[in-house]
Amino acid sequence: MPSTVTGVIARSKGAPVELVTIVVPDPGPGEAVVDIETCGVCHTDYHYREGGISDDFPFLLGHEAAGRVSAIGEGVTNVAVGDFVVLNWRAVCGECRACVRAEPWYCFNTFNATQKMTLEDGTELSPALGIGAFADKTLVHAKQCTKVNPEADPAAVGLLGCGIMAGLGAAMNTGNVGRGDSVAVIGCGGVGTAAVVGAALAGATTIIAIDRDPKKLVAAEKLGATHVIDSSGLDEAGVVAAVQALTNTFGADVVIDAVGRPETWRQAFYARDLAGTVVLVGVPTPDMVLEIPLLDVFGRGGSLKSSWYGDCLPERDFPMLTDLFLQGRLPLAEFVSERIGIDAIEQAFASMASGDVLRSVVVL
Ligand SMILES: NC(=O)c1ccc[n+]([C@@H]2O[C@H](COP(=O)([O-])OP(=O)(O)OC[C@H]3O[C@@H](n4cnc5c(N)ncnc54)[C@H](O)[C@@H]3O)[C@@H](O)[C@H]2O)c1
Ligand SMILES: [Zn+2]
Ligand SMILES: [Zn+2]
Repeated sequence: MPSTVTGVIARSKGAPVELVTIVVPDPGPGEAVVDIETCGVCHTDYHYREGGISDDFPFLLGHEAAGRVSAIGEGVTNVAVGDFVVLNWRAVCGECRACVRAEPWYCFNTFNATQKMTLEDGTELSPALGIGAFADKTLVHAKQCTKVNPEADPAAVGLLGCGIMAGLGAAMNTGNVGRGDSVAVIGCGGVGTAAVVGAALAGATTIIAIDRDPKKLVAAEKLGATHVIDSSGLDEAGVVAAVQALTNTFGADVVIDAVGRPETWRQAFYARDLAGTVVLVGVPTPDMVLEIPLLDVFGRGGSLKSSWYGDCLPERDFPMLTDLFLQGRLPLAEFVSERIGIDAIEQAFASMASGDVLRSVVVL
């Protein structure tokens, strides 16, 4: 029997989100239904609401979730009913050209549920990032479920499902930060602060946190930044000069743009040392255009990368990071700024915009 549960949708571009009844089908072959326990509010949910990701409204929002598997479809072997899982949006196919060349973190054909969740009138929903977890239950592909140690607080480890993993991985995987490196992170929301934490875990010795909101720099400093730059009064050149002043005039080995705007990317580009690495993990919107002298791209060398989901492999990274959290070596709980009800998502977007939170986490 399909379940009818409460979920949060974005019905049309820019409109406030709505709490509605949704219909969750029984899992078909390869699918699983998960009873959601917690789901973080990510900037990407807000991008969906604003029409910045696609026009496939209505969206069922929410994608940073942990919960228990409540039903599995035919042929599912990787999870069983009752398993505690973190949901992911990278269920790798194993067969696409990225997978066959042994780079599955780029998988171009990740799995999602085949069936659709709907409104009561049958309108099909587009689940955010193929998850849709601002709901009591959601339907996913079984491989979107990664088992982790059930002793962990779901509010904390659920955040590995998106933004925090993206930030950690931007430093540890995409940026390949190593012992003794200097790293600068532009934008210290949940993603950027996680990049600070990832840089610290990877052994960076200089970690510069940059934000135009000084409130964000307090948390970044607590979680591993060795220096902070309040960029609110600085132009692009001013930010670059401030990073150079902290890195022997050379610039940082790795600069991570966790905002995703042309001006922050240019800051990242010029604030890195020659032959250094730029990592873009913030997500730009379709209207944004970057202009930069091509000669500078050549002359400064190095590596200009994007970080999709922190180049993570959920099966490899979620259990390992959960274990580090339980051992007290990864401060995931520090990212849970507040626990809220499912009816408070618009307020959570406002708190995000005002800079008051790293993550608001919906408890279901
Ligand atoms: N690449 C991925 O896989 C991935 C995954 C999750 C989220 N994201 C993206 O990462 C970005 C950050 O997400 P978040 O949840 O941390 O958002 P957030 O809103 O919590 O944080 C953004 C931070 O950037 C700061 N900021 C904004 N403009 C700035 C500027 N010009 N200079 C310096 N700081 C500035 C804000 O003050 C804020 O602290 C978003 O674009 C989000 O969509 C990417
Ligand atoms: Zn693949
Ligand atoms: Zn996200």
